Amino acid sequence: MKKIKLSFLAITALALIGFSCGNNGSASTTQTDSATTNQSQMANDFGEVDGKKITQYTLTNKAGDEVKIINYGGIVTSWITADKSGNRSSVVLGFDNLDSYLTPPPYFGALIGRFGNRIAGGKFKIGDSTYTLAANNGRNHLHGGNKGFDKVVWDVTAAPSAGNPSITLHYLSKDMEEGYPGNLDVTVTYTLTDANELRIVYDATTDKATPVNLTNHSYFNLTGDVANTILAHKLQIAADRYTPVDRGLIPTGELKAVAGTPFDFNGPTAIGARIAQVPGGYDHNYVLNGGKTTALRTVATLSDSVSGRQLEVQTMEPGLQFYSGNFLDGTLKSNSGQAIQKHTGLCLETQHFPDSPNQPSFPNTILQPGQKYHTETVYKVSVVQ
Ligand code: BGC
Repeated sequence: MKKIKLSFLAITALALIGFSCGNNGSASTTQTDSATTNQSQMANDFGEVDGKKITQYTLTNKAGDEVKIINYGGIVTSWITADKSGNRSSVVLGFDNLDSYLTPPPYFGALIGRFGNRIAGGKFKIGDSTYTLAANNGRNHLHGGNKGFDKVVWDVTAAPSAGNPSITLHYLSKDMEEGYPGNLDVTVTYTLTDANELRIVYDATTDKATPVNLTNHSYFNLTGDVANTILAHKLQIAADRYTPVDRGLIPTGELKAVAGTPFDFNGPTAIGARIAQVPGGYDHNYVLNGGKTTALRTVATLSDSVSGRQLEVQTMEPGLQFYSGNFLDGTLKSNSGQAIQKHTGLCLETQHFPDSPNQPSFPNTILQPGQKYHTETVYKVSVVQ
């Protein structure tokens, strides 16, 4: 009798599940024409990697600003906004075809992980175990290794829909992938708000202690034209100190005052004004005032008087890598065939400090099982002049 009752319950439950699936199915097939059109404007085929379909998704806000993102590397391929004259162009460097990303360019627009920036000698220790990573930048490890999060295909767990310009990407980085311990379960959500803010929310959990330092590697050029350098852009960074580096760009461990040096961006200063005094150009981590926070705060502002555009960066992270596109050398070509020259884009990567796993005095980057990694960054573009 008991058995019969149980199977009756099971059948009823299955029927209910079936019913709700059927409902969902019919809801999607009875979409209106305009909804279908909106859908196709929000997602278009972008090719294939490792036999997996790559799609380009478009987030559009009420003002008509548009951010395009692909599930390969979670790459922001363009961010179209108007300048002070109403001309629309992309404020980030990127490409309109997948092949250009497979070459590959230096992390254009990509999600970076498992560990952003460098780990000295490609080695770190947790407890008694030493882990060896790829030396993909001289003798050091950079941006997660040979196949970091910028070169993997992410699952799309929530695609943008009408009235919801947001996309959620998921990636399971397996235990010992690129030499890192633990299965790291990562979720990143990009949302474009009506205030033209690109909000990036990063979450992760692990089943073994592992270093985690996630960021986005967009190259900004507020003129919207890669024919121009970013040297006339004015930058302000709320940081009294930075982490000086050795020749391999590994922090020496010192937190050095920026006052009286070409690294001081406490007031808005043209990037080109003192760059000649910085051998190789800016490629340094700033120690943001206030350290790691649980709420967003503005840490940097970038402006360009020609386009009238301004970029504001908000984060919870303790560090910001200011990279002035020093290694761009004209080899890569833009969609219109323009050579992408040195200093034609700059990165403001919100992060923990480079080489933290080997620098006990830096804020901790080791995520433990049971802990939740959560951080948010907002890039906001507006016209101010
Ligand atoms: C690093 C640079 C590196 C660049 C690659 C930046 O985050 O700091 O040293 O060359 O990424 O595009």
